[in-house]
Amino acid sequence: MPPQPVPPSWAPDSWRTRPAAQQPVWPDEAELKRAHATLAALPPLVFAGEARHLTRALGEAAGGRAFVLQAGDCAESFTDFSADAIRDKLKVILQMAVVLTYGAGVPVIKLGRIAGQFAKPRTSPTEEVGGQLIDSFRGHMVNDDQPDRTARIPDPGRLVAAYQQSVSTLNLLRAFTKGGFADLGQVHAWNQEFVASSTEGQRFEDIAEGIDRALRFMAACGINLTSEDSLHEVDFWTSHEALILDYEEALTRRDSLTEEWYDCSAHMLWVGERTRQLDGAHCEFLSGIHNPVGSKIGPSAGPDDVIEMCERLNPDRIPGRLTLITRLGVDAIDSKLPPLLRAVREEGHPVVWVCDPMHGNTFTAEGGQKTRRFDDILGELTGFFRVHAEVGTWPGGVHVELTGDDVTECLGGVEDIVEGQLHQRYTTTCDPRLNARQSLDLAFAVAELLRG
Ligand code: PEP
Ligand code: CO
Repeated sequence: MPPQPVPPSWAPDSWRTRPAAQQPVWPDEAELKRAHATLAALPPLVFAGEARHLTRALGEAAGGRAFVLQAGDCAESFTDFSADAIRDKLKVILQMAVVLTYGAGVPVIKLGRIAGQFAKPRTSPTEEVGGQLIDSFRGHMVNDDQPDRTARIPDPGRLVAAYQQSVSTLNLLRAFTKGGFADLGQVHAWNQEFVASSTEGQRFEDIAEGIDRALRFMAACGINLTSEDSLHEVDFWTSHEALILDYEEALTRRDSLTEEWYDCSAHMLWVGERTRQLDGAHCEFLSGIHNPVGSKIGPSAGPDDVIEMCERLNPDRIPGRLTLITRLGVDAIDSKLPPLLRAVREEGHPVVWVCDPMHGNTFTAEGGQKTRRFDDILGELTGFFRVHAEVGTWPGGVHVELTGDDVTECLGGVEDIVEGQLHQRYTTTCDPRLNARQSLDLAFAVAELLRG
C-alpha cells in the first residue's frame, strides 16, 4: 500500500486552511484582529469539566436512557435583551422539561439555544431594499438587522459585544438554575399569567400539584428534602451554531487538567445545514474541540453522508460526543429518516438523534412574514417518533425555536393563530418561534409520544 498522507494536525485555527462558508466579509482586517485579541484574552464562558459532564449526560440519551430538550431563540438579539426575557424563556423551558419528565418518566437534558446564538447563515449574501443591494442580516454578532446599507456593514466590535451579552445571560441562568428559581417547590411560579388561564396552563397546574403532593409524601416519610440538591437545582447547558469561526477560535482554550482543546463559548456547538461540508472549515473546527458537538441533517443528506459525518466528528465513537439534529420537513420524514437510522445503527455509531421540526417547515405567509404551522411541527415530531419505533432506535430529543413571550409568529396551536394575526406580535430577529402556550402544548404532545 502506498504510504498514507499524514493528516495535518488540528489547531484552533486549522479551519483557516479550508473553505469557510457563510463568513462575513469584515471591512477592516485590523479591527477584526483587535476584536480577536480582546476575546482571546477574556475568560472562558464555560469550563471544560462542564462540557465533559454534558457529554456523559448526552451519552445517556445516545443509549436510550434520557431525552434532550434543546430550545431557545432562532437568533438572540442585542436590542431585545432583558432579565425578564431570559427568565421567561427559562420558565417555559423548565415547564416543558417538567411536563416531559413527569409525563414520560425520562430524565430530560436541558440545553438552551442561548448565551451565544447570535449568528445566522443566509441563503443569499445580499438583499435588495428600495432598489439598493445591501448585505444580508447575519445576526447581531455581525451586523444590525435594520434594512439600511451602513447598518448591515459587518462590525468586529459586535463579536466582543456578543461575548459580553453571553456572559451576562449565562450569569443570570446560573443564578436562576442553582439559586432557588428552579427548585421543584417553585414549580407553580413558572406558570406565566397569560399561560396559567389557558387549557395547557391548567394541565401544567395539575402536574405542579402532583409534584407538591409527591414532595409532601417524601417529607412525611422522613426523607430530608433539603439535602437533596437535585430537587432544588437543575443543570442547564448552553449551545449555539458554531458559525462565525473567528469568534469560536478566539474562545477555544486548552484545558489545564487534560491538555485537550475546548471551545469555551458554550457547552455544546453544532454545524448548520449550510456549513456541514465534510471538507469545510466548520467540520474541521468541530472535529478538534472536545465539547459535545452536533450537526444539522437536512433532506439532501443520504446515509453515506451521515456515516461520513459520524466518522469525521466522532471517529472514536464516544457516546454523547455527537448529536444528529434532523430537520427533514413533515413531508420527507417518513421516507428520509429510516435509511439514516438504519445506516448509523449498522455502522455502530453511538449518536443522539434529535428532531428539529422547525427548519424543514418554514414558509412565507401572504403578508411577507416567515412562519410555520404548529400542525406541521407536531406532524414532523410524530413522524420522528413513529419512524424510530419502526426501526427500533431511540428518539433522543427535540430541538425547537421558542420564546417565553406571547408572540404571534407560528400559525395554529390552541389559540389558532391565523395568517392575518401574524403582524400583531411578530418580534423575532430571524425565524418564527413558538410562543409560551404553543411550547407547553407541544411538550404535552411530546410527553404522550414518549410514553408510546
Ligand atoms: C437554525 O437552527 O436557526 C438554522 C439556521 O438551522 P439550519 O442550519 O438547520 O437551517
Ligand atoms: Co432558525
